[in-house]
Amino acid sequence: MKNSLVSAIVFFYLLIVSVRSDVLSDSCRKAAKGNPIIKFDFCVSFLKENPKAKSATGVADLVEVVIETAISNAKSIGSIISKILSNNSLGQYVRSCLEDCSELYTDAGSDLSRGEQAFEGKDYGMANTVVSAAMEAAVTCEDQFKEKKGVVSPLTKENKVFFQLTAISLAFINMVQKL
Ligand SMILES: *[C@@H]1O[C@H](CO)[C@@H](O)[C@H](O)[C@H]1NC(C)=O
Repeated sequence: MKNSLVSAIVFFYLLIVSVRSDVLSDSCRKAAKGNPIIKFDFCVSFLKENPKAKSATGVADLVEVVIETAISNAKSIGSIISKILSNNSLGQYVRSCLEDCSELYTDAGSDLSRGEQAFEGKDYGMANTVVSAAMEAAVTCEDQFKEKKGVVSPLTKENKVFFQLTAISLAFINMVQKL
């Protein structure tokens, strides 16, 4: 009798600990299940780099983690673009695409900040709208390069990463909304 009580307590303790420590994987798994674009491994490995991900007690904490990750990602894409633009032998078409992309990512950064604020204010509809707008930056940027034959996007990898991050943000916001 006593023994089974102890093992029940131990069992529930372990259950609680494992549930808490697995908020990130659980949320990423759910996000990947709900949207085939989202890759589980990418979600976990990218987000666990933020120390706040470890102390997350629910998906709501992860929304902030992923939006902040996306904001700093948008900034680093901006720096990558400036670096590419410093090449003087770049063709005019590629140069103007890159300048557009730079603007798109600056706007995406402010959209994401607005999204974070809206989320904090529990205005999930607005959060969804502005994060979706930020997501479009990746698509618009990548598509421009396809419009001219022989031009290859130098930002394919960056656009893909940013797209994933915003898709994960939307998935997490959705999960909070359904709680
Ligand atoms: C500069 O751009 C040209 C033309 O796209 C390319 O061939 C060259 O590799 C670039 N140079 C550097 C240092 O990236």
